[in-house]
Amino acid sequence: MKYIVVLPAAGSGKRMKAGHNKLFLTLRGKPILIHTLDVFEQDLDCIGIWLAVKPEERVIIQEMLKQYNVTKVKGMPAGGAERQHSVYACVKEASNEAELILVHDAARPFIEPTVIKQLTQKAHETGAAIAGVKAKDTMKRVHNHIIEETVDREQLWIIQTPQAFHTSILTNAQHQADQDGFLGTDESMLVERLNIDVHVVESTYDNVKMTTQEDLLIGEAILQKRQQEEN
Ligand code: CTP
Ligand code: MG
Repeated sequence: MKYIVVLPAAGSGKRMKAGHNKLFLTLRGKPILIHTLDVFEQDLDCIGIWLAVKPEERVIIQEMLKQYNVTKVKGMPAGGAERQHSVYACVKEASNEAELILVHDAARPFIEPTVIKQLTQKAHETGAAIAGVKAKDTMKRVHNHIIEETVDREQLWIIQTPQAFHTSILTNAQHQADQDGFLGTDESMLVERLNIDVHVVESTYDNVKMTTQEDLLIGEAILQKRQQEEN
């Protein structure tokens, strides 16, 4: 299933405390941003990449793309104050380019091609499909450090990206959110509020977001595991 992908990369990485955009940090010598881009560069079904960037980082990112031979980036609009604005800027540019669109955090470099395939297939069939994994821990709702209830774990999923949509569904949802001043933490929330069913595709625990320093250690370990599996 052919698709285009939008990668928000215009964050500041405050929780990583690197003093600059965390996506420039390296894992096994290669920037996190390039690890993520490479997945889509190598996927034949991906027919274009849009990257939301900070204007002051555009040149350095363009140089990185050249250095690592990333050829599928078709647009690099300026990101916004919130992730949702960054994604919206890309979708506005890209929406005529394919019927299927994926949104994926640039900070999730370990997404597996098989999951992308399942997501695009499901979104093609139904309109909306997002990646998630089952919660592993006991989950409780807590208020002021006091437990209100233990939540049935069977029904709880940890949601990740990619999130895949018919392009028209995502653009409608973004437009409506923009008009209502609604801010969500992922694109699915914008679609959910239109009462459209969003399907969840089981992803892998590898697909972590590089958010804090500890995640870099996990990232290095995942890459080591993958290299061992190759040998
Ligand atoms: N992002 C973006 N525009 C923003 C904020 C975030 O494009 N205004 C991107 C980030 O670059 C990242 C993805 O959205 O690839 C997920 O966001 P997050 O992990 O929160 O990254 P940051 O916002 O950079 O980190 P922090 O919240 O710790 O500052
Ligand atoms: Mg953030």
